[in-house]
Amino acid sequence: MQSNHCRATALVGARLGFKVHLILRGEAPAEPDGNLLLDHLAGARISHYPKHQYVAELPELFAHWRDHYHAQGHKALCIPTGASDGLGLWGYLAGAQELAADMQAESIGAAHWVCATGSGGTQAGLTLGAALADLPVDVWGFNVCDDEAWFMNKVAEDIADWQRRFPDRVPQPMPAYRTRVIDGYVGPGYGRATAEVFETIAELARLEGLVLDPVYTGKAFHGMLQEIRAGRFAGRRDIIFVHTGGIFGLFPQRGEFDFSHSDLA
Ligand SMILES: Cc1ncc(COP(=O)(O)O)c(C=O)c1O
Repeated sequence: MQSNHCRATALVGARLGFKVHLILRGEAPAEPDGNLLLDHLAGARISHYPKHQYVAELPELFAHWRDHYHAQGHKALCIPTGASDGLGLWGYLAGAQELAADMQAESIGAAHWVCATGSGGTQAGLTLGAALADLPVDVWGFNVCDDEAWFMNKVAEDIADWQRRFPDRVPQPMPAYRTRVIDGYVGPGYGRATAEVFETIAELARLEGLVLDPVYTGKAFHGMLQEIRAGRFAGRRDIIFVHTGGIFGLFPQRGEFDFSHSDLA
């Protein structure tokens, strides 16, 4: 329901003149908030499904709506969760190129790239992008749901899908890549964060004016801080945290912040 990817798709679709239909997990709330409010503003058509039905029937739901639009003479492009497939990979392949240019501009040689990983495509795109450009970079994904094994498999699947779909873009030989997942920071579950994550979000906003969200970037950033303290990234490399957005996901969780010690209290 608070998908940043769906919201971005709804807004870009509006701009490009495409109709966007979102298939969302969870019953419609009385009042749309955060990303869902923006989905409505962008004029997307929205279908809500109870969690159990969404989980059990997503392929059927896609097929149903694709047939529905086909019968009306339209052609529907079904975009999977998070656009994490061989086609969606192009987004963070471009992101990797942009980061490489930033590193060059800042005279950064070797680095760690750190991101949140939720459906795998961001990590897969950055991992493949770094390999294709032969960058001296390790890409680390902090998973915000599922576990390490799931993401190792998903990143490999997405990259294999990219190779299948775009054979003329695959260099020969295909460069080796390494998927690195840091598990252990999912906390209470997908979309739910501990008080420490909310404290980290508030602290970063106060210290740097940077805003993270509790579902993705806040969890990953909090995890990265713990791992830095534990010595995971010891050495002389720079650490680049890839801020993937998601600010609107903060608003529906406004109640989790503790301002009792602030001057506003
Ligand atoms: C703000 C934000 N950061 C990171 C991610 C993780 O990206 P991916 O789904 O490609 O793993 C997502 C989406 O899942 C997101 O919305």
